[in-house]
Amino acid sequence: MKPGGLPGAAEAVPAPRTATVAVIVPAAGSGARMGEVRKPFLELGGRTVLEWALAPFLARDDVVEIVVAATEDASGVARTDPRVRVVAGGASRFESVANGAAALRAGASLVAVHDAARPFPPAAAIDACIRLAARGTGAVAGIPAIDTIKRVDAESRIADTPPRATLWHAQTPQVFPHSLFRRAVERCRSNGTEPTDDASMLEEIGAEVRMVEAAASNFKITHPRDLALAQMVAAELSQ
Ligand code: CTP
Ligand code: MG
Repeated sequence: MKPGGLPGAAEAVPAPRTATVAVIVPAAGSGARMGEVRKPFLELGGRTVLEWALAPFLARDDVVEIVVAATEDASGVARTDPRVRVVAGGASRFESVANGAAALRAGASLVAVHDAARPFPPAAAIDACIRLAARGTGAVAGIPAIDTIKRVDAESRIADTPPRATLWHAQTPQVFPHSLFRRAVERCRSNGTEPTDDASMLEEIGAEVRMVEAAASNFKITHPRDLALAQMVAAELSQ
């Protein structure tokens, strides 16, 4: 209470700490499955895939910093907004994410990781992931499995069939409390393990991580056939 002030609710209950978000965008892949095409720099309706991917994050006031890990000159994207910086990517997705993490300036309470090759992250899913992470739980955008999924051995013999209701496709963004994320990256670095997604790193240290339903439109451009669909979605969103 201020000297001479009256006790009131605003002083009795501390204001909730507002989350701030640093975003790491791995963009340094070689696009082998696309025929060695740098996917983040492909154009969709006058904007690069990377620009599409960043737009819903840049629209948020709580996003204070975006670090893009890229191999080729991506400085164009850094000129679009002062919050965006470009650092060198690594030889694997994990290394690119770790390079991004090392380049973060202190301060943001949450870290979001989003693939540059995933141009249409839904604003609602980004929001839901950030809200969950602000409560201390890791959050992963994704969609429930549509097909039955088989676990197989090296000869493609079916080992078992996990119940479909327990299976999700993990996409990005994946959002985590900053301190947990740092601990998880350090642990992977020292173990020499390279998980294929970011949540796996937190699962390793026993942190709670939940799936958040996003949308099929949040697909990752992976094969040449994905481009036609991406062009269609970009045209729809540009209207
Ligand atoms: N990525 C990265 N650094 C790497 C490898 C991948 O930053 N060394 C990024 C990609 O640029 C992409 C995201 O991680 O935005 C997801 O990877 P993926 O879709 O596998 O892209 P590529 O690795 O480029 O494609 P491919 O596996 O077909 O080579
Ligand atoms: Mg890859």
